[in-house]
Amino acid sequence: MTDHIYWKDGALYLLDQRLLPFRKRYVRCTSLNDITRAISEMVIRGAPLIGIVAAYGVVLGLKDLISKHRKITNNALERICERLAKTRPTAVNLFWALQRMKKKYYKNEEKEDILEILLQEAISIHVEDIEHNRMLSLYGAELIDDGDIILTHCNAGALATGGYGTALGVIRAAHEDGKKIKVIATETRPYMQGARLTIFELFQEGIDSELVPDNHAGLLCANKRINKVIVGADRIALNGDTANKIGTLMIAICAHAYNIPFYVAAPVSTFDNSIPDGTHISIEQRDGREVIYFRGNLITLKDVVAWYYSFDVTPAKYITHFITEKGIIPKPFKKFIPMLFS
Ligand code: MRU
Repeated sequence: MTDHIYWKDGALYLLDQRLLPFRKRYVRCTSLNDITRAISEMVIRGAPLIGIVAAYGVVLGLKDLISKHRKITNNALERICERLAKTRPTAVNLFWALQRMKKKYYKNEEKEDILEILLQEAISIHVEDIEHNRMLSLYGAELIDDGDIILTHCNAGALATGGYGTALGVIRAAHEDGKKIKVIATETRPYMQGARLTIFELFQEGIDSELVPDNHAGLLCANKRINKVIVGADRIALNGDTANKIGTLMIAICAHAYNIPFYVAAPVSTFDNSIPDGTHISIEQRDGREVIYFRGNLITLKDVVAWYYSFDVTPAKYITHFITEKGIIPKPFKKFIPMLFS
């Protein structure tokens, strides 16, 4: 599945993930506003995809200026990037992609075809992400054995990335390798990335899969109904502390308690070499109404105060290995993670 994001005739088309798996509708983005709305309202989501869409957002932001007969200036570029950076604070891929777009801009700001140069950079970020996912998936598939029953949380599939996926990419590669595996996906309340998106992708690939409510992690580990866990990540600190979808931490603690390997699959763009540990990760807090309502239907009393921290941080000690496009990262993470940047 790679048709969930494409550029055509000066516009970015995004498959509206809020409607999956029941409806396939594209949101056409032609302006910076369209892009900031698509990211913050979760038309698209997933750390790598947020970064890719933001990169195209820089191009559309500058195009907006030209259409209003205004000049592209350094200040204007900085303001566009600031607006994009405010959409979702946790996934570091967003900031990584904006930095890369800025670097390209400052190297080429005098050139007449700067817009085309930046569009090509956004396309490169997109294409490289798919390549990196395929590479890390091949490494990760080595860790998967015939007969494995693998728990995954949220959606770290093609839909969360430029294509192919990270955690789901590893599963996909093992399946393509002919390994007989089963995947258990958590629902991932309240946005239901697992139930709506992960199960959708697994069914499309014909991979044996089942669905559980999020609160099943303890039972599945205790009863050895799963023997591996693979998840994606939104930001990984230099010591290996990892932010991922809320609920990841409780799965990691359960897996650790029952000696079940817990793998995190992510491209190097998800590692943040500016922070020593997870205490520096800012956790997005979304509107409590996303918990109180599901698809417009009230599911509790409307005046209740509801919390929705979108992510949690799993301490490195609960993680067995990281799976990246540069290979499998073993412990001690403090020694090996910094090497990813050299
Ligand atoms: O809120 P979301 O859907 O953007 O959260 C997504 C996740 O937590 C994913 O697991 C993570 O971004 C990795 S995607 C390859």
